[in-house]
Amino acid sequence: MSFDLILFGGTGDLAWRKLLPALFQSFRHGSLPANGRIIGVARDALTDEQYRALIASRLQQVDLDKRPTDEEFARFAQLLHYLRMDLSQSSSYAALAELVKARNASTVVMYLATAPSLFQNTCQQLAAAGLNGPQVRVVLEKPLGHDLASNRAINQAVRAVYAEKQIFRIDHYLGKPSVQNLFALRFGNVLFEPLWRRETIANIQITIAEELGVEKRGGYYDGIGALRDMVQNHALQLLCAIGMEPPINAHADAIRDEKLKVLRSLTPWTAERLRNHVVRGQYAAGTVGGQAVPGYAQELGVPAGTQTETFVALRTEIANWRWAGVPFYIRTGKRLAGRDARIVVNFRATPHAIFSAPAGAVNRLVIHLQPKDGLELHLLTQGEQHSGAGGPRTTQNLAPAHLDLDFDKRFGSGRVGAYERLLLDVIDGRLNLFVRSDEQEEAWRWVEPVLHHWEHDTQGPRAYNAGTWGPSASSAMIARDGYCWHEEQ
Ligand code: BG6
Repeated sequence: MSFDLILFGGTGDLAWRKLLPALFQSFRHGSLPANGRIIGVARDALTDEQYRALIASRLQQVDLDKRPTDEEFARFAQLLHYLRMDLSQSSSYAALAELVKARNASTVVMYLATAPSLFQNTCQQLAAAGLNGPQVRVVLEKPLGHDLASNRAINQAVRAVYAEKQIFRIDHYLGKPSVQNLFALRFGNVLFEPLWRRETIANIQITIAEELGVEKRGGYYDGIGALRDMVQNHALQLLCAIGMEPPINAHADAIRDEKLKVLRSLTPWTAERLRNHVVRGQYAAGTVGGQAVPGYAQELGVPAGTQTETFVALRTEIANWRWAGVPFYIRTGKRLAGRDARIVVNFRATPHAIFSAPAGAVNRLVIHLQPKDGLELHLLTQGEQHSGAGGPRTTQNLAPAHLDLDFDKRFGSGRVGAYERLLLDVIDGRLNLFVRSDEQEEAWRWVEPVLHHWEHDTQGPRAYNAGTWGPSASSAMIARDGYCWHEEQ
């Protein structure tokens, strides 16, 4: 098998930080098919040698154990090439087509790590240059649009020249080993399935917390915000993995059909739900990891008053027989108290209590996604027994204890990273971990009413101090159902 991987945006942030390091790791592990060529594409005037030198210096900036030795890089460099292109010029595409056709690789991957505004034109031009044969796959990085209409416009334009099975829409959360493990947990074990329903589960909490602020990405982030950046894609994909029915097999469309059904079953927004079930926030100055950090507007250097949310908490339900009435809470934000992505499944209390237990103690499954990758199963066990002064035992008390499975310890922390896995899947043509257009559109359809609501909401995002868990309204929202966020338990 031979492949050509054309990396549009070959000198961009994503290529430096994620894609080229991931390709090098696959190369090092021997999982990248040997007969490959990687062609970086950008506007800069660079020779192959200059491009390789840039990559060599970037690969020295990654974690120590991931840096290549000189000998390793010399071998990796043989795969690397560079092509200067002006994406608005058809002559540039003709030059690319010539390069690709001369080699006639069995797989040709067009990775569009560029601004999404270029997707439509780039795909049309690639097709016009004859680069849309069945061996071609196209990879689209998020964000694919900023609302339903713009998402549809991109999907339609790309689908006019490529079949759905040639289009790989990235949601890098699906490439994380901990997220793939969610599918394994649910559909590779018999243990949880009978309990995975409204009769036994009280509520589910999905948290994706970041310590970092917007950093250098303010230009992209301001005006986009956490709902579009994290909820529409990553958080909803997690919700699908938790809430979907068992697929009939492990093929891409069987899995994606079930995820789509979840998205279609999310309770529609009403004015009352928009008021009470969504909280948006924006970080003010505070302290993160012992360091004083500025507020969002100051970090960005924009005037105070920007309405972009850096935090969202919301409540929804999946309206079907399995889940009716069970609240699903989603929460994500920047500059929170820690970097922590987890899903907490809170089970119901026993229907009849014969022992005394600490208030709020229930069975709970905590699925740690990052930075820890593991599972905790919280149980109630025999606690201390109290006896009356010198007399017989009077009460049997329960105490919480948990089983703790740490996948990093169990399997080592050197597991295949998200981009490594996704790039190999594109080259191998496996679509399971990529998002289909209808899923993506359904997710946009569901978040849009929230965006519209905010446009007319004069209150704006609530301020929260950096280094906290977001605005107190987020705790108040969940407290109205009689629950609290896991870290408050
Ligand atoms: C990206 C968002 O999709 O995911 C970023 O655009 C966010 O804003 C990032 O920081 C989080 O990814 P991870 O893998 O660090 O959790």
